[in-house]
Amino acid sequence: MSETLDYGDYTARPVADGDRSQAADIGERALRALYDGPLLPYALLRYRLMLRRCRHTDRHTYTTFLRSPGQLRLLAGPVIDFLRPGGAGGERLEIVLLACSNGAEAYTIASWLHRHRPGLDFRIRASDLHPGMAARARAARYSAAEVLHGPFVTRAFLRDTFLEEGAEFVVRPEIRARVEVEQADLLDAARLSARFGPVPLVVAQNVLFHLPDPAAERAFAGLTGLLAPRAVLMVAGMNLELRARLTAQAGLAPFAQDVRRIHREGRAHTPPHWWRVPWGAEPYLPFRHDPVRRYATVFRRG
Ligand SMILES: C[S@@+](CC[C@H](N)C(=O)[O-])C[C@H]1O[C@@H](n2cnc3c(N)ncnc32)[C@H](O)[C@@H]1O
Repeated sequence: MSETLDYGDYTARPVADGDRSQAADIGERALRALYDGPLLPYALLRYRLMLRRCRHTDRHTYTTFLRSPGQLRLLAGPVIDFLRPGGAGGERLEIVLLACSNGAEAYTIASWLHRHRPGLDFRIRASDLHPGMAARARAARYSAAEVLHGPFVTRAFLRDTFLEEGAEFVVRPEIRARVEVEQADLLDAARLSARFGPVPLVVAQNVLFHLPDPAAERAFAGLTGLLAPRAVLMVAGMNLELRARLTAQAGLAPFAQDVRRIHREGRAHTPPHWWRVPWGAEPYLPFRHDPVRRYATVFRRG
């Protein structure tokens, strides 16, 4: 048995010029409208019940390039401005990125910062629990389906990030050079902190929703333990109530820019019947208590 659940069913989509998601087909749109509209109380109830019963696994490796353009704009704008208040110069910005899967997220961030913060010196230390995933990230070589299955991939991003070699997409050397890859377990807080901390930017996305709540809480403590006194944590993809509670307890403040849009982009990667899977999330509900904290994915300390 393979150590991970790989997604052999990735299929390449047509590439967009702008970053708007390719329209979902009519059946999918109708289902989304139903579950996010009149059937929302039913979906919320089923989601709660599912979470109580589901079996979590650390073997899900679904990932995609350019998973959330809104979050990347937030990163290249307010986040970097916060971390580098005097401008892009100064010492190298160290970024620790956990649970990197095949590397799509790390190379996306590297490409985006390279393009949108050209004066910024940065390095991404990426890692994954599974050595096979770390090896694939290190290889930085992808099939068309791996690169093109995400709904937000644009021509400009492809040009900035890859060289095409036959049927393969190879990460450009200047982007590849920004990323180092190793194996690491985000539940091993002592080891993480000895190897990586403290750092100004920690990224651990779409992984905590794969852990049972007590393990997610432990992992979250390990992540905050990595943060420098002035630092940012990017943590899309975890239980919304748990994240709101833990970020507040840790004294982390949400970045408010585009919260609603980023939440919507995150949901583009889950099926319309989001309540059936632990990585599903309710739609943005403005009547929730403190919606900015509830739906934000990026938080600052200091
Ligand atoms: C769904 S993928 C998310 C990948 C990427 N962060 C993204 O947002 O697209 C989750 C990844 O978390 C990794 N993972 C699961 N448990 C982990 C752990 N305890 N420590 C580090 N990585 C873990 C899995 O191997 C998988 O590659």
